[in-house]
Amino acid sequence: STVEWDPEETGKSGYDHYMLKEIHEQPRALRQCLQSRVDELGGQVTLEELGDINPSSVQFVACGTSYHAALYGAQLLQSVGIPAQAFIASEYATSVPPIGDNLVIGVTQSGETADTLSALREARRRGARTLAVTNVVGSTAARECDDVLYIRAGPEIGVAATKTFASQLVTLSLLTLQLDGEEDNREAIAGLRDLPSNVQAILDDTKAKEIAEEYHDSDAYFFIGRGLHYPVALEGALKFKEISYEHAEGFPAGELKHGPLALVTDNTPVFAVVTGDGEQARKTIGNVKEVEARDAPVIAVTDGVSDVERYADHVLRIPECTPRTAAVLANVQLQLVSYHAAAQLGRPIDKPRNLAKSVTVE
Ligand code: AGP
Repeated sequence: STVEWDPEETGKSGYDHYMLKEIHEQPRALRQCLQSRVDELGGQVTLEELGDINPSSVQFVACGTSYHAALYGAQLLQSVGIPAQAFIASEYATSVPPIGDNLVIGVTQSGETADTLSALREARRRGARTLAVTNVVGSTAARECDDVLYIRAGPEIGVAATKTFASQLVTLSLLTLQLDGEEDNREAIAGLRDLPSNVQAILDDTKAKEIAEEYHDSDAYFFIGRGLHYPVALEGALKFKEISYEHAEGFPAGELKHGPLALVTDNTPVFAVVTGDGEQARKTIGNVKEVEARDAPVIAVTDGVSDVERYADHVLRIPECTPRTAAVLANVQLQLVSYHAAAQLGRPIDKPRNLAKSVTVE
């Protein structure tokens, strides 16, 4: 269930920063994540390490980027009829959620985050079965949980989580497909199979760099999305603030008008993630029009299916794909914007001030 990585690969391999190298490693990380876990012809997913786990409901605990992955995972499980909720790990004990027969899943790249370990211990103390979704073999979370599911992203050196977020999303997609009880998941599996090449197409696009060059000197940056794109908006903003030191916030698109809209000006770029042309896209486009009317520069991250481009100043294109995989792809464009904005500003990208790769205090 694990994959061997050559220690040589922990160098920067000609990239200016580990973060950029790790962004570019995503196609490979995703292939490793999927390897031998999907049967495309039969439409089946098999996560061998989990056996026949079959929870009636799920609670996620996680921090930072991993919490955004947990929000995504909870939505996916809900969509296949498994009640699921994501908790910020440091708030888990105080929110006293009933354990019942929940499976509690800790999503943690390092497997060493104190807040997440503590929430998992609390869950276990109260009788829950626990599962670690982690990148690090033999980490504390892997050792302490009843079960472990590896994301197989390979070593991540940059403090900003990039490829591990993509691998967390895909691992949680696989988990959902294994748990959903459908006989035939061929279409979803085909979407996952196409992800590595679709990510590669985005990595070859230079538009994110141009946008970072144009807007790196703005007052603040806002990121909006609905449904599965809400965690992407949160992650886009976290990455941006973490490495550029600029103010950035992510919002559910519908919340803008309930307060944050007061902050929107002609010097606050708004990144809107809009894919497909369904109800969610239509509503987010309504929110895009609201910020456009306040003269904010709008950057649409889109597959081009809806007409959001009519209201956007710039477009960050992603290939047309399924909604689940769209979140992974949109996030890659936002990673690139953050990276290039931080590079323009001369920030120490791999080691941002005040932050550590693994946070071992509560
Ligand atoms: C994000 O770029 C950060 N590195 C941070 O938010 C991180 O995701 C968080 O500290 C949780 O870490 P973990 O996944 O190792 O538990």
